[in-house]
Amino acid sequence: MQTIQQLTEDLINKIAAGEVIERPASVVKELVENALDAGATQITIDIKDSGKELIKITDNGHGMTEENAKMSILRHATSKISNATDLFNITTLGFRGEALASIAAISQLSIITKPSEQMEAFNIVIEGGNIISTGILAAEQGTTIEVRNLFFNTPARKKFLKSDSVELRHIIDVITRYALGNPNIGFSLSHEGHSLVTAPAVEDAQNKIASVYGVALAKDLLPVAFENEFVRVSGYIAKPNQARNDKNQQVLFVNGRWVRNVIVNKAIYDGYHSLLFVGKHPVYVLFLEVNPEKVDVNVHPQKSEIKIEQQKEISQAIETAIRETLARNNLIPVVDFSFDEKPIPAPKYTFEPSTQTILQPVKSSIIEEYSTPEEEVIVREQAVPALGLVKLPQMKILGQIHKTFFVAETPGGVLFIDQHVVQERVYYEQFMQQFMHKKVATQTLLQGEILELSPQEKLLIVEHESKLKQLGFTIEHFGGNSYVVKTIPSVFGRMQPLELVREVLSTINENRNKLEEIQEEIITRMACRASVKAGDTVSIPHLQKMLAELSQCHLPYHCPHGRAIFITMPVSELDKKFQRK
Ligand SMILES: Nc1ncnc2c1ncn2[C@@H]1O[C@H](COP(=O)(O)OP(=O)(O)OP(=O)(O)O)[C@@H](O)[C@H]1O
Ligand SMILES: [Mg+2]
Repeated sequence: MQTIQQLTEDLINKIAAGEVIERPASVVKELVENALDAGATQITIDIKDSGKELIKITDNGHGMTEENAKMSILRHATSKISNATDLFNITTLGFRGEALASIAAISQLSIITKPSEQMEAFNIVIEGGNIISTGILAAEQGTTIEVRNLFFNTPARKKFLKSDSVELRHIIDVITRYALGNPNIGFSLSHEGHSLVTAPAVEDAQNKIASVYGVALAKDLLPVAFENEFVRVSGYIAKPNQARNDKNQQVLFVNGRWVRNVIVNKAIYDGYHSLLFVGKHPVYVLFLEVNPEKVDVNVHPQKSEIKIEQQKEISQAIETAIRETLARNNLIPVVDFSFDEKPIPAPKYTFEPSTQTILQPVKSSIIEEYSTPEEEVIVREQAVPALGLVKLPQMKILGQIHKTFFVAETPGGVLFIDQHVVQERVYYEQFMQQFMHKKVATQTLLQGEILELSPQEKLLIVEHESKLKQLGFTIEHFGGNSYVVKTIPSVFGRMQPLELVREVLSTINENRNKLEEIQEEIITRMACRASVKAGDTVSIPHLQKMLAELSQCHLPYHCPHGRAIFITMPVSELDKKFQRK
């Protein structure tokens, strides 16, 4: 029989190190966090061979006394918490007293540290957890830690490291995140003497984002400021047009700690709502502040995951914060109406809404005419009551072009309008409004429309009867493969009811297992189906009516999938193109 024996201290440390230190970037993260906890304002990192040969980090924080420096490499030795009450109210990044012990166990470590009250710095060198030498030397206030030959005594871990470029990228990610999360602290990272990140201390996060992600992106940032009894949300989100194909530019800090949190992330996406194309990911640098007692950071060995009490309330708050920010800033680049907002002091060209003749509206064979008087073609500025900010400029619609777009004159320029997208947004919001309030208005088809269905489609109808009902459809069995459509949602009533039902069925069919998640997709697709298309003749009064409805929408500048409704061309732009200036 095998005998049980106590593991040696050395082995325990190596096992624990395996959890905390997965790769060179984990070392960088732990050391940066220690520097931040020490109150550093400048943190400089130099690495060699993607961190495998050397990670050197210098901070100007409060440093350690000789005694503390010796303690710092012992497991469970920390200056940051001392009792259970502290553990449930953590305000520092470190709290376990594990990081340095772990790093010391699997590398050759040197610490040079000098607190302000001491003349000289203390130096300690450790290899595989054992102190090799100590000494005194001259140094600036703060701490310099050098980690050489990481994993030198744990070859298995070393073997699992990814390629140099991957490991390096992980390190860059750590530094950029912390730089973004701490605008007033300077960070610099260099590899083999080449500078990779230079992010000097700045006043606010936007400047920091500019230095890390570039000025172009920083220009498209919207500040978020929201607070309720549960959470304070601050930071920046990028406009939807800056959305990326990957999630690399999403940074979330909770109480100063960088974390991943699926639920918070989802709330952010929900906040963007229909402004993101499918498969696109928003860019954000967001800071949440919640009562530390309501956050458990002790759930993951690398402290990158947290549990938040009141998760639901906080998600709701985040979604609102994002949505309000987007609505408040209706200055998405392609819809820059700013030149129409301030009347030009001495206009070179005049905009005369009332006297100019309007192109005769074309009679349409497809689209029914509305009773709006044809000479009244100005859509007045209309504030949306709920938000009070969204508005369309005053405009004179000149006419349809290529049976797809409309051209309108505005006080400051020209506006191109995509007819399909206008109606799509209107339908989407009108229906969504009803759907959210569980009051979908339906239209009864007097005759009923007969649908011939495949066995597969029949099953869909049976399985999803109640969902279809919620969406406004009543579909009954008629005999054999025939079903009769009795009601349809009246928002979309103008189109062929069967086409609408088929659209819904095919959306459900493509996403059978996640119906709750695709409600929005179903509604988007119905709105798209029901809307006028490119190629449809649309009269000016019809467009006017659609624009009047659009001005009542919450987000009147994009279709539910994020495509622009308007493109503007200021007179100044025309002047430039015609070389009048
Ligand atoms: N750069 C530094 N400047 C000043 N003190 C430091 C620095 N790095 C570490 N220390 C001291 O060493 C102690 C041990 O650091 P270590 O990272 O191992 O643990 P911790 O930060 O307390 O907790 P955690 O394991 O969660 O990171 C810290 O509590 C702190 O007192
Ligand atoms: Mg630490």
